[in-house]
Amino acid sequence: MSVPSPAPRVLVVGGAGYIGSVCARALAEQGADVTTLDDLSTGHRGAVTGPLLVADLRDRARVREVLRSGRFDAVMHFAARSVVGDSVHQPLPYYDVNVGGTTILIQEMLDAGVSSLVFSSTCAIYGAPQVLPLDEEQPFAPVSPYGETKLVVEQLLKHCRERHGLRVTCLRYFNAAGAVLTPPALGEAHRPETHLIPLAIEAALGRRPPLAVFGDDYPTRDGTCVRDYVHVLDLADAHLRALRRLLDGDPGDAYNVGTGVGTTVREVLDAVGAAVGQPVPHTLQGRRAGDPPELWARADKIKRALGWAPQHLDIQDIVASAARWAAAPRY
Ligand code: UFG
Repeated sequence: MSVPSPAPRVLVVGGAGYIGSVCARALAEQGADVTTLDDLSTGHRGAVTGPLLVADLRDRARVREVLRSGRFDAVMHFAARSVVGDSVHQPLPYYDVNVGGTTILIQEMLDAGVSSLVFSSTCAIYGAPQVLPLDEEQPFAPVSPYGETKLVVEQLLKHCRERHGLRVTCLRYFNAAGAVLTPPALGEAHRPETHLIPLAIEAALGRRPPLAVFGDDYPTRDGTCVRDYVHVLDLADAHLRALRRLLDGDPGDAYNVGTGVGTTVREVLDAVGAAVGQPVPHTLQGRRAGDPPELWARADKIKRALGWAPQHLDIQDIVASAARWAAAPRY
């Protein structure tokens, strides 16, 4: 999926993080002129494509200067605090960064005349789904402060589309996974790591203690939770398609971005065992608070509207790329 010519100038906020860095590179490969803004609180300098401006979104004067001097056509906004469990224990920094920082970014975009935005949202805005697969018509009922902050921003962005003509698309990711192996490789490297696939890989490699499986008494096919793991390259493709549509003048919309394939925790562990060549040592623990038993997407809307179709549907392939990334030198 190419971006329009002449090359759009895109500010990638949070472009040193996992999904942001992959999208920034995909943008640059399609000919966009990419600048990254990141505070490097969780991101990695070595993951950045193009010039890096180190700044905190809550620093309004700096954000203003960046937007006014950059002549950007669009912003992609990935920067957020994103650890669901952590957000339950300390909601204030989540609201401060995810809502406060984003409000500053939007205000300064509008003041600088930058009118296109692709925003990283999440399936966590739906909470525990009533109906599966989960489509965009389901009620919003987030069960964590993290999910709440993303929902609040989506609502604010809708107001900005209606009142201020902001062209904005919100992409509601399901479980981002996988890595990009073309050098320099890009993948998941959170500190601390909380996500299933990287933790399982590290456990299989003997770099961490056995993985704790959070609950095996769910009403699912093997008792463990079902999630929709979407390859980060497919997420990047969704961003490029969304951006192209906005730059063509579309007002934007909100879309689920998942494969429609549900995979249990046990199936992930089997896939990791096969990819690493040794089984994942694990223990059984109780359920983790706030985990819905099953989450998988109906992504028909983005398929219809943007022509997006995930290319990586096999959990084994997704996990294999993450395992090769984990074995390779990292940032
Ligand atoms: N899990 C374990 N053990 C672990 C880690 C995870 O059993 O050590 C299980 C979880 O209980 C869950 C599944 O593996 O069933 C996936 O958990 P992750 O932490 O990898 O991902 P989540 O589904 O909790 O979170 C993802 C995104 C969030 C998003 C959320 C919406 O990472 O950004 O989905 O529910 F908000």
